Formats: sequence, structure tokens, C-alpha cells
Amino acid sequence: MIRKLKGENPAFVLDTQNTSYAFRIMETGQPEHLYYGAKITVNDVADLEALSEKRAFQQGNSIAYDQEHLSFTLEDVSLEMSGYGKGDIREPFVEVVAADGSFTTDFVYESDEIKSGKTELKTLPSSFGDDVEGLHVTFKDKNNGYTIILSYYVFEKEDVITRTAKFINSSSATVSLRRLMSTQVDFNEAGLIVSTFRGAWIKEMQMVDTKVSAGKFVNSSFTGSSSNRANPFIMVSREGAGEYQGDVYGFNLIYSGNHYEAVEVNAYDKTRVVTGINPTQFNFSLKPGDEFEAPEAVMTFSKDGHNGMSQNMHAFVNDHIVRGEWSKKARPVLLNSWEANYFDINEGKLVALAKKGKEVGVELFVMDDGWFGDRHDDKRALGDWFVNTKKLPHGVKGLAEKINNVGLDFGIWIEPEMVNVDSDLYRAHPDWAIEIPGKHHSEGRNQRILDFANPEVVDYMIKSMKDVISSGNIAYVKWDMNRIFSDVYSQYLPEDCQGEVFHRYIMGFYRLAKELTESFPKVLFEGCASGGNRFDLGALCYFPQIWASDDTDAVARLTIQNGYSYGYPMSCVSAHVSNVPNHQTLRKVDIEHRFAVACFGVLGYECNLSDMKKEDLSAIKEQIETYKKFRECMQFGDFYRGKFGNVVEWTVVSKDKKQAVGMIFQKEVRPNSPFLDYHAKGLDPLKKYHFYSKEAKVSIKMFGDLVNGVTPIHIKQDGFLHGLIDKFVTPKGDVEDYTAYGDALMNAGVGLKPAFSSTGFDMEGSVRIMHDHNARLYFMEEVQ
Ligand code: GLA
Repeated sequence: MIRKLKGENPAFVLDTQNTSYAFRIMETGQPEHLYYGAKITVNDVADLEALSEKRAFQQGNSIAYDQEHLSFTLEDVSLEMSGYGKGDIREPFVEVVAADGSFTTDFVYESDEIKSGKTELKTLPSSFGDDVEGLHVTFKDKNNGYTIILSYYVFEKEDVITRTAKFINSSSATVSLRRLMSTQVDFNEAGLIVSTFRGAWIKEMQMVDTKVSAGKFVNSSFTGSSSNRANPFIMVSREGAGEYQGDVYGFNLIYSGNHYEAVEVNAYDKTRVVTGINPTQFNFSLKPGDEFEAPEAVMTFSKDGHNGMSQNMHAFVNDHIVRGEWSKKARPVLLNSWEANYFDINEGKLVALAKKGKEVGVELFVMDDGWFGDRHDDKRALGDWFVNTKKLPHGVKGLAEKINNVGLDFGIWIEPEMVNVDSDLYRAHPDWAIEIPGKHHSEGRNQRILDFANPEVVDYMIKSMKDVISSGNIAYVKWDMNRIFSDVYSQYLPEDCQGEVFHRYIMGFYRLAKELTESFPKVLFEGCASGGNRFDLGALCYFPQIWASDDTDAVARLTIQNGYSYGYPMSCVSAHVSNVPNHQTLRKVDIEHRFAVACFGVLGYECNLSDMKKEDLSAIKEQIETYKKFRECMQFGDFYRGKFGNVVEWTVVSKDKKQAVGMIFQKEVRPNSPFLDYHAKGLDPLKKYHFYSKEAKVSIKMFGDLVNGVTPIHIKQDGFLHGLIDKFVTPKGDVEDYTAYGDALMNAGVGLKPAFSSTGFDMEGSVRIMHDHNARLYFMEEVQ
């Protein structure tokens, strides 16, 4: 609910189910931030008096606002938005250079409006929702007459507030907009913990905590994409916050380009958080009457720790970001050709692979890179979006038919934003690539970025991609983007507009994404940028799921998927089981343990099933059956993090709390550590559940020459006899099987069978045999 409180100057209170946000307009006209956090009761403007900072004298060596307000300095007040050059020396919200060269701005309140409904941004994707209220407050710059409209939207159920800002050049001259942030939240305290998610290719979303007690901490990307180097999602917590307790704020941005999250502590121990477009190499020239929209920023707060905050973000993404046919629809189990064949594909190989996929229960077959132009490696042909008939003699159409005849849906890989120098497209339009003519150009995966700041290039790609997607019965598209920016320059834009390239590129990308997703509403689009180089809320407005990382190693994925789970629901995170030794790490993890990690998300397979052992194929068949049974829960249930150390513990619970799946994953065996318990999360405390696992796979060979401890004759390890016994004698693996109430499963936890500790093993499954990188899945189903 949004309320305007009447008083000498207006004040505004925004309430969600469990949080409140309050600010008021000061006597001098700037908006003073009063509060953001757990819900508080405020009935009238007098109730806010207690909260507000009292001022009585001028602070030495600071700028007093003016003669009439000598005890008031903008340097030491919490603000909703700050201009530049009037005494506030912290991170500005807006920076604009007037025609006379001056930078100083002073935005003061002009009017406000409370409206129900969510207004879409005109130039960028934004959240949606029916039951949303919006507050729009207009400010006017005292120096040059510019206008800023701050918009706030309240998503009550999800405890989310979003903010955007619009700058209107209501002056009479052309100006340069150097920065426009999306949100600004000032806290009256220092020493907050900022959690950011850093990484690089195949090591995305590594969470790092930084305590900011002084100075400035910046999380940002300057890669042209939201990037795997620094995801735009961050958390800000009070010291002592943990997974299930403590104050945690979450911030994210609905934007896929260069972003900037700065946390700055000033000299008076106030912390400012701003988030928005990265101001580096940003400079927008705005003529009188021109407008500029900042991306929508998403904010949430929970006093129930990181997990509480994550629940809010997950609900928000599922209900207000991901849209279209697939937003709530069960996603198919797919088989992707990349790690099976890389570029070496042809119709015969693909159809053979698809047949194997069908046998094990796969639903969708995806042909990855290599199907078009002269594409035999990553050096050529990007941009030449016509089928390579040597590889696919019956075209995409013919292949799709064959795959459909196998009984699978068919999907295709594209990378529409890129061009290789060695391509017909580049040869025909060298000026369509982002590069500085005549200058040395740096390389990234041997490809260049198409200039999407140029509308003609986007138009061309819309047509080209529409031709591809309608060239056969295509049910799925994997949209890749494999290069970060360098030598940024648009040959289309004039010299004085080169500071607009990054943002105009992203607007071009969104136009293409909107056109294609709207033209093919039934097609499932999966985003990808060398894995997670563009995993953000902007991309999720078009692509319901994103290939989270090119890393398919189960152990590496634990950290990556755990990292994503702070800000993103599992329905967005695509995860594949691949071959071992793993192609990124050479690590070997058995097939059931690879599945245990990949099933927490949108499951797929990416390996050469045609070459696989029979046992592995039948394991996969069983996995897919299990996944299908719990799919709704795995993809759209509530996800909870548990332990995260040598043992990683995850739980996902269906919305109706009738089903849940838990996982423990042990990174390494620790000797003589028999006892381990699994603590469920999110269950209905009063429901009774059948808690069970499938029997773990154990074999005689796993014990090596220890077998001699139980045999009357000596057995040579790996000898003929050893093999024979292994074939005919199978010890029972551990199984857990109990019924218990939800509260017991959550609070007391389940004491699991003791881990192997050198002695005490029997053939009856009383001991849990878990090697390095082994997992167990636990299923919970309500019993009446
Ligand atoms: C990127 C993607 C991979 C694969 C290759 C194809 O690296 O992340 O999944 O599609 O491109 O070139």
C-alpha cells in the first residue's frame, strides 16, 4: 500500500506485507529518506517525527544549504536522490552537464501522483503485475529546470519495492547526461556487509562478503553485458545475519548491460547504496524535450536472513519478471549436442543422438553451434545464418522433421549479436561491426559484436532470425552471446554520441529479443552468454531460463548454482548432466551424483549418449523418470539453502508442501565422521511426510582388497575372482525410510545411516558408503 501523509510537506509511506519504506519532502524541497526495513506502524506525519534526524547547528567544514538553513547540509542527510554540487559529496544519483558547462543540479519536489497499475518502461524491459501500486514524484532542478520523475512500485506479497527514474530535459538547451541511477538508499549506519557474486567463465556466481566501514565499494561491469565478472544482484546485510536470521536487503537491476552498484560510507557513518547503469563511458546527449529512462531497480528486505530475502526475490522473478507461454509451464528435459559433438555435427549424428535421447526419456533435442554457413570452428561464419547443406542435406526443416519423428521436440542454437570477420555478412557490411575504423582491434573468440546501436542492423537481424526460427518446426531457441566488448565505437552514431553506444546496444538487443519472442510466442527461449555472462533480470524478461554456466562439473556447479539461488529461482537456472572426465575440470563424478546437482534447476543432458555404457544409460532413464515425477517441485517449488561447507544441503518444496526433495553432497570423505543429519526446510510443520531415499549403489569392487576381510580364500584385487564376485555379489546400499512430521524433519533433522569409517561394514546397507563428490537425494511426500 502507498500512502501520502499530509503535513506542511508531504511524506510517503510504502508498505508491503512485511516491510515499510518511508520518505518525506524537506523544507528545502529535497526528498529525505526516513526508513527502509521491517514493517513499522505510521498513521500520520507526526509519527514520522520520531524517526527523523534532528538538526540544530552547522557542521564544521561542511556546506550549509543556504543562509536560511545554516544548520542543514546535504552532505549528512539521508536522501532518496541526490544531485551534484550542492554540498552532498557522496555518490550522486544524477550527473548532467548543462549547455554552459556547469555540473551543479538541485532537484526539488514539484508534485506527486499515486496510481494503481504498473507502467511499462518505453525503452527497456520492466516488471509486470496487476495488483501493483505506483508512486510517481516529480522533481525540478532549480538551476536549469530539468525534470526527474522517481517512480516507486509496491509488490506487497513478495515484499518487493521497485524504483525507476526518468530524466526529462525540460531546459531549453541540449545537455549531456553523464549518469542516472535507478535507486538510491541511504542507511544511517556503517559497517554493512555487502555480498557480491563475482566470477569469470566457468566459475560464475562466487559469493564474496565485504564489510564496508569506510570509503566506497563498487560492484560493476564494463563488459557490455551484465557479466559473469560481477552479477548485478547484490545483498546488503547487517552484521550477524545468516541464512535464517538477521536483516538482509537484496538489490537487483532489470538490465543486461554495464551496471554499477556502489556502497559508500561517508564521514558521518551514513551508508549510501546506489544502483544503475555504469557511468563509465556513458554520456547521453539530450535535446530539449528528450527523455531518458533508467532501468528498473528491484529491492527487497527480510529479517529472516539470506534465505528469507531469496524467497522474496524468487517469487518476484517467477511472478513479475518471467512472462509468456513458458513462465509457469514445466520445462522439457533436453539433450544438447554441444559437449557430445562440438562443431562436428551432421544430420546422421544428430538423429542418432536424438534416438538415444528418446530411449532414456529426453523430451527435446537441441542442435547447438555448427549448423550454419561455413561453421567448422569458432573462427568463421557467425552472421551467415543459412543452413550448411553439407552437414544438413535436408535443411533445418528436414532435420526437425526427423527429430520430431523420433518423438522429440527440436531446438536450435543462434548467436544473433555477433559476426566473424571471416563471414559473408562482415564482407558485405564491415561497418556493421562495433570497431573503430582504421584502428587496431582486439579479439574475443575470433568474433566481433554487431552494432545494435544501428537500427538497420537490428532490423536485418530480426528478419534473418525470423527466417531461421520459421525454417522448420522449432520449439526451442538457445540464444548465445560469446564476447565481451572492446574497442567500443558505433560507425552509425556521430562522434559526439559515442558515449551512448553501450546503452543503445542493449536497447537494440531488447528490441530484437522482444520481436522474436513475440513473433514466436510458443517457442521456449534459453539465454546464454558463454554460460552465465548475461544472467540478469533484463534477459529473464525474454528468456525464461538461462544456461547458468559452461561448467557442467557437479562440484563446481554446487557453488555456481548455490550462488544463483540467492537472487534467482531454480526455474531460471538451466543445468546439464555431462560426461566424465568433465570437460572443464577433468573431474570424475559418478552419474547419479552429477544428476543430484543438475536436477536442482531445469534439467538437461549434454553428452554423447551414443557412446555411453549401458549402466549409465539405464541410470539416466531412471533419473529422468524421477525428475519428471518431481519436476513441478524442482522447477517451481520453493528452494532453500542449508549447510554449505564440505557438505552442501539443498531442499526444494512444492508450493502445496505435499512434496519435497532434499540433497546432501559431500565434497570429500572425512575419516571417522559417522554421523550426519539432513535438515529439511520449508515443509508444513504439521504435515506428516514419508521421507525416503533410493538405495545407494554399492559394489564389492568399491572395497578393493578389503574384500579379503570377509572371504575365506585370498582374492587378488582386480583379478578374475574379484571381478566374478563383484558380478554376482552385490552388497545392499544404504537406504533411508521413515515417516515423520514436517517440524521434526526440519528442526530435529534426520539422522542418516553412519558413514563408512573403516570398520563395521555389513552387507545389509547399515552403513552409508559415500566417496568424495557423492550425493544423496531424499524424497518427501505427504502421507494422509
Ligand atoms: C558457448 C556456450 C556453449 C556452446 C558454445 C557454442 O560457449 O556457452 O554452451 O553453445 O558457445 O559455440
